[in-house]
Amino acid sequence: MTQAQSAPVGSAGKCPFMEQEGWDFTSPDLLEQGIPVKEFAELRKTAPVWWNAQQPGKGGGFHDGGYWVISKHADIREISKNNDDWETNANGVIMRFDDEMTQDQIDVTKALLINHDPPEHTRLRKLVSKAFTPKAVHGLEEKLDEAARKIVQQAADSGSGDFVHQVAVDLPLLAIADLLGVPEEDRTKLFDWSNSMMNADDPEFTADPQMASAEILGYGYNMAEARRKCPADDIVTTLVNADIDGQSLDEIEFGYFFILLTVAGNETTRNAISHGMNAFLEHPDQWELFKKERPATAVDEIVRWATPVNCFQRTAKRDTQIGGVDIKQGQRVGLFYGSANYDEDVFENPFEFDILRDPNPHVGFGGNGAHFCVGANLARMEINLMFNALADIVPDITRLEEPRRLRHGWINGVKELRVDYGNR
Ligand code: HEM
Repeated sequence: MTQAQSAPVGSAGKCPFMEQEGWDFTSPDLLEQGIPVKEFAELRKTAPVWWNAQQPGKGGGFHDGGYWVISKHADIREISKNNDDWETNANGVIMRFDDEMTQDQIDVTKALLINHDPPEHTRLRKLVSKAFTPKAVHGLEEKLDEAARKIVQQAADSGSGDFVHQVAVDLPLLAIADLLGVPEEDRTKLFDWSNSMMNADDPEFTADPQMASAEILGYGYNMAEARRKCPADDIVTTLVNADIDGQSLDEIEFGYFFILLTVAGNETTRNAISHGMNAFLEHPDQWELFKKERPATAVDEIVRWATPVNCFQRTAKRDTQIGGVDIKQGQRVGLFYGSANYDEDVFENPFEFDILRDPNPHVGFGGNGAHFCVGANLARMEINLMFNALADIVPDITRLEEPRRLRHGWINGVKELRVDYGNR
């Protein structure tokens, strides 16, 4: 059926997980098995706004007893667009850190653009949004197309191997490094730091995430210094020269912009490409269709199917209601994109991977509010270029093993996907 076929518990019949002590939709152990599609389907039907209690010390850094699971597409859109009742600043958007994370450490993440609210968020976002308009992104197309073809050709020449590292990793990294102005020789470092920061929950990644974020910050500060002396046509130069109502970004604001841009576009796009390839390998009819017709609709179906960000959160600014359920001021609500993207009220046959799906109002890039993914145009272009290169260069690609999934609280990730490139 879907990537979440092997949901670990409570899949059949009623909803045993609702009574199960310790059940947590942000548990890394749960998402490691796949998006829990059956449990989400049950919630959408029986309790679309559901209180997920968390035990003391098990809140992924939060100590407020739990959060509301928002599983319906319409409710996620409503919350995402309503900045009067909901904010990101109080608790940030990330729903799960390490259980040992302190409030002070969580508070540091409030410097990220995504954890600011309008009107300040609006001013900050303007600084970078120009770099991501369709026109600006189009300017990168030729270079990224060439890069995608080179990446796929190199992988094909190896005969077989891990698709994630041979194919999916490089293009997103190259695109963001290019926009930021990071020189070629430093890109691997950036990739390693970004991985270490994001994958702390997975035992295979042993590097210290705090150290990695300090390294990225240090690197960003050095770049800023260099661009102040010698401006270039890149985002770092835009950020160091930023003038927001007569004020420039302070050091922390700049640093966290740099971190967010480095990290946000890498993991997400890589996982969209990896899940997308896996979906094609599991649905050969769709791969044949793609190779023949190259429909423009394929990219959004890949993002819907992959839902690389399973959830982000908001906090209630006042006592309010969603879906008729009372929410208290200060409570957190989890926007579970991994549920909404399979909502049967919005998508016909949601568990079919259908690259001709149109319209496709998925919320993989967010629920169309103030924080809607600033890199969506870029991500779409990268995915499109990559699958066109794959269809041209390795049309006979096959899967050698089941993908190995990332253990993570909110990223729906693939660690390894072994394939034969069919290039003989
Ligand atoms: C398939 C790839 C991607 C996915 C699935 C994705 C997903 C998301 C989601 C779900 C949000 C939050 C939306 C909300 O809260 O309403 C977001 C925000 C954001 N994304 Fe992406 N993203 C992707 C690629 C990228 C790329 C390539 C970049 C470029 C650097 C990027 C940069 C950002 C930034 C800066 C934000 C914060 C925007 C704000 O707060 O105003 N993303 N993304």
